[in-house]
Amino acid sequence: MQIHFIPAAQLKPKPESDFGFGKIFTDYMFEMDYDEQLGWHDAQIRPYGPLKLDPASLVLHYAQETFEGLKAYRTEDGRILLFRPEMNARRLIQSNQRLCMPEIPEALFLECLEALLRVERDWVPIAPSSLYIRPFVFATEAAVGVHPSSKYKFMILLSPVGAYYADGLNPVRIYVEDEYIRATPGGTGAVKCGGNYAASIIAQAQAARCGFSQVLWLDGKERKYVEEVGTMNVMFKIKGQLITAPLDGTILPGITRDSILHLMREHGLSVKERPLTIDELMDAGRTGQLEEAFGTGTAAVISPIGQLHYKGETIRIHNEKIGPLTQWLYDTLTGIQWGRIPDSYGWTHEI
Ligand code: COI
Repeated sequence: MQIHFIPAAQLKPKPESDFGFGKIFTDYMFEMDYDEQLGWHDAQIRPYGPLKLDPASLVLHYAQETFEGLKAYRTEDGRILLFRPEMNARRLIQSNQRLCMPEIPEALFLECLEALLRVERDWVPIAPSSLYIRPFVFATEAAVGVHPSSKYKFMILLSPVGAYYADGLNPVRIYVEDEYIRATPGGTGAVKCGGNYAASIIAQAQAARCGFSQVLWLDGKERKYVEEVGTMNVMFKIKGQLITAPLDGTILPGITRDSILHLMREHGLSVKERPLTIDELMDAGRTGQLEEAFGTGTAAVISPIGQLHYKGETIRIHNEKIGPLTQWLYDTLTGIQWGRIPDSYGWTHEI
């Protein structure tokens, strides 16, 4: 694909630290259009800035939109690494299929991403910060009737980031949501689309007002099984075994989740993907059998959970300190991502 480059008149000063999460954007962004005649075309890297969008664009009315999240890491010797970017490309294909949107072939996705990163490589900060990459696709046909759009835009934004939670690696407090639901069988729970997050904001905002970092979602049918946390998959170590919900169509297939399961199995550690009820979890918490809990996600990395609050009862986990398994997984995963630990899995991808 020919990618047209439009240079910026002036580059922004690059902040050295205190990035927060997702508030600062780099000098350039990637943009490419789709229509039924030309397919994906007009790829360009141009200065970051506002879009000109028809107010009838279907995305603004019916939320036909999908997105991805990954990071670029700067190693101590100055190399730039991506972590399993082909997994993001494949998940975006699946998300687009579910939302009746055109696919971006894996090789094209990687080509666009690498082209933007080559232009912006100086923006990749040193550890423990990284460059968050946000690819997204949205419907641009101007129409008010509900139907699959005939036109789309694929864009990639880059943002230097620190920790997703202000607390960093300090254990977070989680509210178990028993009123609203996130996903039901046959819905879009396994899809990375903006609509899932829009519908979750009310619960997240209520929990935040009470001092919680996130909500833990229960299944949409019986409100009985533990599914995932707002921005992360979730794992619990109970009686020596790490347990996480199976990918049954209502759970986001997280790349960090998959990597943790691999690491556990490769090291002969006990891990099980199985339905876990909130009652079993709370019982394990009451009896001291819930040894550790953490969330996994690209943005959140591995985030220890110190407290679970459900129907007025609070369970404290590992004295609200990070547990040894969580710490080991965090050190191993981030070690591979930053090139400090040899990557024997072929997960890192140098730009
Ligand atoms: C990510 O972890 O990359 C995500 O996409 C979660 C996001 C909603 C911050």
